Amino acid sequence: MRVRGMKDRVVMSRGPNEQWCEGERLCEAAETYQGHRAGRTFKTSSEGLGYHADFPAIWRGQYRDELGSSSSSSRPIHIIEGDMFEVTSDLVATATFERSGRFDAAFDKGGLDVIPPSARQSYAAVLDQLLKPGGRLLLVVMDYDQDKLPDSEGRRGTPPPYSVPEAEVRRLFPAEVGWTVEFLERQQEHLLSRRILPLRDVNLHEAAYLVTKSTKAEPADLTEQSTSEVGRKTAPLLVVLATAMLGVGAAAALVSRMI
Ligand SMILES: C[S@@+](CC[C@H](N)C(=O)[O-])C[C@H]1O[C@@H](n2cnc3c(N)ncnc32)[C@H](O)[C@@H]1O
Repeated sequence: MRVRGMKDRVVMSRGPNEQWCEGERLCEAAETYQGHRAGRTFKTSSEGLGYHADFPAIWRGQYRDELGSSSSSSRPIHIIEGDMFEVTSDLVATATFERSGRFDAAFDKGGLDVIPPSARQSYAAVLDQLLKPGGRLLLVVMDYDQDKLPDSEGRRGTPPPYSVPEAEVRRLFPAEVGWTVEFLERQQEHLLSRRILPLRDVNLHEAAYLVTKSTKAEPADLTEQSTSEVGRKTAPLLVVLATAMLGVGAAAALVSRMI
């Protein structure tokens, strides 16, 4: 895949009416620097001296899929840089051309298993909010016996990536509320056991799942397409979580239009 553009980092912030808009906004006026604040940068702007929004930010560009025919045309791609727990469908709607702010598909490899286990329920809630009915998540997680870690009860505790066994995936996406979890594949992982000392003698596996959201109807305003989409061929939108692509650390979402 060849990606072009991605030259400008556009910071998004909430305006006075709580609507997302482009540009850093003064969040909090301050005479002096009062220490680091997550997602804020301390500077002077036309609005004054203080803490300005620095996240989330959008990178926009074009990509061409070169795996298919050589005549494939460029498609828009949007990367939302920020904390995935702060990505909401109204942010996605403002950052992209999709008014619903929701996706047909999501891909996460190495995201769910690096967040603290206490945040997993919030992870599932974010996915629930960002996926359309019938939307699918391709999930790749680490799976190993955490009890085999030499220090699992000790000073350092279990390091990330944490083990996410199949039962945990099914707990997070329960069938009772319409999720379907399909186990796809499991492969031995060798690289991390060489890189992360506590994992050296642990039998690591990567497991892939296809998680599908129920197709149950939702309010019309959430499923409605933008007017610019009317008459265009319906195409899937994809969110890629926790990707480190293009050198954008902690990128939370990649939206691409694939026909
Ligand atoms: C193990 S790496 C996986 C990177 C890539 N997906 C891969 O498979 O090589 C985990 C990534 O998750 C990102 N990450 C962790 N917590 C995040 C969060 N709350 N929001 C967005 N990204 C997060 C980290 O910045 C890191 O890039």
